[in-house]
Amino acid sequence: MYICRTINDIRQTVWSFRDAGETVGLVTTMGALHAGHMSLVAEAAGVHDRVVATIFVNPTQFGNPKDLETYPRTEADDLAKLEAAGVDAVFIPTVEEMYPDGDETIVETTRLANMLHGMVRPGHFRGVATVVTKLFNIVQADAAYFGEKDYQQLQVIRRMVRDLHLPIHIVGVATVREPDGLAMSSRNTRLTPEDRAAAVCLNHALTDAEAVAAGGGTVEDMAEAIRARINAEPRARLKAVDIAKALSLDPATGPLTGPVGIMISAEFGPEDNAVLLIDQREIAP
Ligand code: PAF
Repeated sequence: MYICRTINDIRQTVWSFRDAGETVGLVTTMGALHAGHMSLVAEAAGVHDRVVATIFVNPTQFGNPKDLETYPRTEADDLAKLEAAGVDAVFIPTVEEMYPDGDETIVETTRLANMLHGMVRPGHFRGVATVVTKLFNIVQADAAYFGEKDYQQLQVIRRMVRDLHLPIHIVGVATVREPDGLAMSSRNTRLTPEDRAAAVCLNHALTDAEAVAAGGGTVEDMAEAIRARINAEPRARLKAVDIAKALSLDPATGPLTGPVGIMISAEFGPEDNAVLLIDQREIAP
């Protein structure tokens, strides 16, 4: 596995793949890899001759400096996992390599970035769109694989690729869950055992909403069921419940007339060092 720390290095490596007529799948990550990331790698490996992964904790997508500082960094472990999974090359740049002159040029999906979860985390999706555009330009893969857990992020990236005519195919991959249903996340490692046990309320809340929809309930009924479940868990602080039309994320109200995406987030632990978890489900009437 090639380990590339500079843009020049990863470009040379990918060009050598391309010169040999090979296709390239890309998995972008912030490290602290878990089974969810590895499922993206497996999907990419099933389709492409070569898989390139990136590990970069992108500062421009963190609003809260404490969250950036405490984001888990496990490089040696991550590299071992990627190598075992058959990844061909890893790009691990420094902040200076990615933002040598700061971040004057930004990429923003203006509507999608500033709605729903984007209102709770101002600037977050702008940071994601900017760094993902940079990574796409640097690696120049045929396709990139993203988890559906970050539902709004996936729609932001799809829209950005469409609007900017970026020559890359975006593939969404189903959320991987722990045996009790908690969505896999690098942040789960920061939960205390008690908060880890409580965090399963997110998945239960989504299941409740699905049951409400199956019984003919409205979008508002589904949101209410989610609020009730998470508010019943004393260790959870509900941050957002958003139910929007699938893909476009246009507002959804009343009876279900088409597929909707449910996006929820809740915090656990002390307010000054909270762990923010998100989860999602797409439901069709
Ligand atoms: O989903 C993530 O891990 C990050 O938001 C991404 C896409 C790697 C951009 O930093």
